[in-house]
Amino acid sequence: MQFDIRRVDDTASTNDDAKEAAAQNAPEGTVLWALQQSAGRGRYGRQWQSPLGNLYFSVVLRPKNNFACYSFIASLAIAEAIRKILPKTNIELKWPNDVLVGGKKISGILLEAADDALIIGIGVNVAVTPENPLYPVTSLALETPIPPTLETLLNDILHSLAVWCATADAQGFAPIRTAWLAQARKGAMRVKLSSGEIHGDFVDLDETGNLRLILADKTIKTVAAGDVFF
Ligand code: BTN
Repeated sequence: MQFDIRRVDDTASTNDDAKEAAAQNAPEGTVLWALQQSAGRGRYGRQWQSPLGNLYFSVVLRPKNNFACYSFIASLAIAEAIRKILPKTNIELKWPNDVLVGGKKISGILLEAADDALIIGIGVNVAVTPENPLYPVTSLALETPIPPTLETLLNDILHSLAVWCATADAQGFAPIRTAWLAQARKGAMRVKLSSGEIHGDFVDLDETGNLRLILADKTIKTVAAGDVFF
């Protein structure tokens, strides 16, 4: 995949910029990168604080199938790039698409559909560690004395994203699922659903990327959307 990186100093949300670009027929691989966002969005319409110093970008993809792959692909790509920077730190993946550094959230991924395009929006805490009322949070600056430049990190994530996208095109979700499971934080968890809260132990991912948990009464619960807490 060829990337065309378009950088601006600030914007409302790079996901909106990517949607607009996609509507104007921007090819797959178009990347909208902003140094700060005034209306950065997270999952469930939450705000994503986007001050200067962190990485904010969105990629236009035009996948033909395997839509469920892409949130896992994005987290694998971020984890790979961060592992290069922090080779000795415990880096895990939290369902559905968080990357945990020493158990703390360092990045966010927001997938949005736009007509026939898929927008992958990625934010990584590099220099700044915005407070989050829901989760413990970290940033690269808190983890290493020499964090990478935003450009190096962006290029590393894009490189890895391209490799995983090619894998998904050729082989579907199976290898993505295997790689994700190998890095997943497992064990006991609490999941907030729109209908309430459940507690269980991680079992695996089903073939479409849903989370499977075993509950105290030994029933298996399949979760399509929710927030996981450890
Ligand atoms: C989350 O964890 O809730 C997802 C956060 C996603 C944030 C990124 S930053 C770049 C892109 N533009 C946005 O408005 N959101 C995503």
